[in-house]
Amino acid sequence: MTLRLDAYRSLWRDQAELGRDPRRGGYSRHGFDDADLALREWFAAEAEARGLVVEPDRNGNLWAWFGAPGPDAVVTGSHLDSVPGGGAFDGPLGVLSALLALDVLEARRFQPRRPLAVVVFAEEEGSRFGVPCLGSRLLTGEFDADAARRLTDSDGVSLPEAVHRAGVDPAGLGADKQALGRIGVFVELHVEQGRAMIDLDAPVAVASTILAHGRWRLTFHGEGNHAGSTALDDRRDPMLPAAHTVAAARRVAGKVTGARATVGRVEANPGGTNVIASTVDVWLDARAPSSPDVRTLVDELVGHAEHVAHAEGCRLTVHEESFGGRVVLDPALRTRLAGWLGGVPVLPTGAGHDAGILAAHVPSAMLFVRNPTGVSHAPGEHAEEDDCLAGIDALAAVLEHLAL
Ligand code: GLV
Ligand code: MN
Ligand code: MN
Repeated sequence: MTLRLDAYRSLWRDQAELGRDPRRGGYSRHGFDDADLALREWFAAEAEARGLVVEPDRNGNLWAWFGAPGPDAVVTGSHLDSVPGGGAFDGPLGVLSALLALDVLEARRFQPRRPLAVVVFAEEEGSRFGVPCLGSRLLTGEFDADAARRLTDSDGVSLPEAVHRAGVDPAGLGADKQALGRIGVFVELHVEQGRAMIDLDAPVAVASTILAHGRWRLTFHGEGNHAGSTALDDRRDPMLPAAHTVAAARRVAGKVTGARATVGRVEANPGGTNVIASTVDVWLDARAPSSPDVRTLVDELVGHAEHVAHAEGCRLTVHEESFGGRVVLDPALRTRLAGWLGGVPVLPTGAGHDAGILAAHVPSAMLFVRNPTGVSHAPGEHAEEDDCLAGIDALAAVLEHLAL
């Protein structure tokens, strides 16, 4: 039953050097960039070494099949991309654990009655093209294919150009009924991204709900000018309303129970020390227990942003990059999972996941592995080896129950 530690260590070590970011610390692995392509190759080689049949789908998600593909398959997996300077566990832990859980089942000579598959979803963080869970949103039809074909990264590389490098035909992007129709149930294992499991003294837990979540790009348009020769009264500096809006995000979120609002990215254009910017882009990430709560928060903040922009003689444009409602992961399924695992805790989360996108289409569940610091989306993200092994054993047990 217990997984050999060296199998875990060797799988971990082999991918751990890919996509390290010496400048930011941690990892920068973004959808279809060099690091991501190397990780996809690593995954394909590991899956094939286990006798799995690897194939990409029309949206650049990678599938590894144990036995003939679908229907009614038991699918597990996660993603391999990261936020800029992200931690080592968010995503890869779920993919590694999926492969190692299949090893556990193989060692037990388990004969599944349903097809089993491991999936790697593309661009889950949305760090390159702005849309989180892009691969699963495209697969399920939750994000429009034409809109996806218009996405570009910060260097102007289009999504079609990027997926083409990964051998995916951009013309085929979009809802994939065939790939979706093969999934009977989806289980994603993930490092916990908060502190709840520390306080509960639980190495493994099951997820219940995910906050409603959206992303917006607010662009403040002012007048580019000289930092030395432009009198203060003559300026239309978009950095001022941008700064007021960043500060207001915290205040406005504080008025909605359970809400969070974050500005983690600001870009001044052209971005010179001695230049009054002509535009400033502010990316807002807003989450709350319900969609109306998120909308209320964002409407109030945008109203404030318009007001402070006007006061500085600037103009505001707002672009919604993504939006998803609150997710309730299948209540019956999560109760069964918690029971199979001896009554582990069932916890809500504020982080987004591909399981949350799939949940509207197929029964979906998540397992969490304890994070001893609660830190995530940063190099300090961590999970202890013993807890990871417990997670793999838990995932194997769940897959076995589901595939029996
Ligand atoms: C992904 O981890 C997110 O919640 O943004
Ligand atoms: Mn993440
Ligand atoms: Mn993740």
